[in-house]
Amino acid sequence: MTLSELGHFTADQFAKAYGHGPRWIAAAPGRVNVIGEHTDYNEGFVLPMAIERYTVIAAAPAAAGAPRVQLRSLENDEAKMIDLSKPLQPFARGTWANYPAGVLAGFLARGIPLNGFDAMIHSTVPLGGGLSSSAALEVATATLLEAMTGRTLEPVEKALLCQQAEHQYAGVPCGIMDQFISVMGRQDHLLLLDCRSRQTELVPMSDPSVALLVINTNVKHELGSGEYAKRRAQCEAAAKVLGISSLRDATAVALQQAKNRMEDVMFRRARHVIGEIERTTQAAQAIRNSHWPEVGQLMYASHYSLRDNYEVSCTELDAVVEIARGIGPQGGVYGCRMTGGGFGGCTVALVKTDAVDALTRKISEDYQRKTGIEASLFVSRPAAGATILRA
Ligand code: GLA
Repeated sequence: MTLSELGHFTADQFAKAYGHGPRWIAAAPGRVNVIGEHTDYNEGFVLPMAIERYTVIAAAPAAAGAPRVQLRSLENDEAKMIDLSKPLQPFARGTWANYPAGVLAGFLARGIPLNGFDAMIHSTVPLGGGLSSSAALEVATATLLEAMTGRTLEPVEKALLCQQAEHQYAGVPCGIMDQFISVMGRQDHLLLLDCRSRQTELVPMSDPSVALLVINTNVKHELGSGEYAKRRAQCEAAAKVLGISSLRDATAVALQQAKNRMEDVMFRRARHVIGEIERTTQAAQAIRNSHWPEVGQLMYASHYSLRDNYEVSCTELDAVVEIARGIGPQGGVYGCRMTGGGFGGCTVALVKTDAVDALTRKISEDYQRKTGIEASLFVSRPAAGATILRA
């Protein structure tokens, strides 16, 4: 389905649920991170792209101007209500409606008044698949509220508001990557984001001979479970031992010198972050030069570091990477790595475009044989960021 078809489909679903059509429709994409994993909250570099998978929200004013928001979603049975006449509170931990609720709270906190509305949400970003389904929902909500209120936020402020929603309402201390790319994605470009200065650079990725193949292990990941927050704390502790404010300022030499002053686990976490920041800027340069084998090698190195130093991979992600590596460049694969927070979810592979069909078959079969699980695979071109489909 194209984005515009998805908008129409969601409008139809809105009409089925509420008995009349929506007034506003907004959409925001998920993302795949090509390289630069677990570097954003260490003030390093990331290199994601928005994908052609979206969260769409259709909405209309609440009946009789009632000051309440009704949230329905095709992906979740239970409708949720938010009373705008009272101070906003998060729902119980793990409730899907915390993402939109946190964004509403962010608008109210900035003094932007909101009226009641009814909404229908539909997402083609796989939920819990490491493709930023949560950021897509937050950014789609913020974009909808921009359409409704006529107040357009600066892109950086909008992304940070959505990140706060995730911290305060969903309880995940995430970095800034997912919300930034969902807001700022550009067709046929990756986004090289310096998470310290927040400066962005668009890196063209339009060579028709290569494609990014997303392979979903269909093992759900759960970042709220605490492992993510633990990694973040370990990085902060390592930076403290090194006497710096974040691992962005660390060097491999300084880390080596401090080795006996920190626990082994802290050392390995820091080693990953230092190496990954370097790999990310190298990969951006290799992509600018269309040096695909080099990009592929950096992707494998990233995966192995995430597996061994950072310990956020899992058997199924490793299985996909080994299958991809076994196929190699002769079979059309330059590189492959886990993408996103980890513990399940997706891998991303850099492949030759003319091999995509054969690779899809081969990887699915081998993965099924190895793990007994059916994978889902798709190719996406770098997509544009959030947009208002009807205002
Ligand atoms: C999740 C977080 C991001 C980032 C990645 C790991 O997607 O939301 O901020 O930290 O994990 O790179």
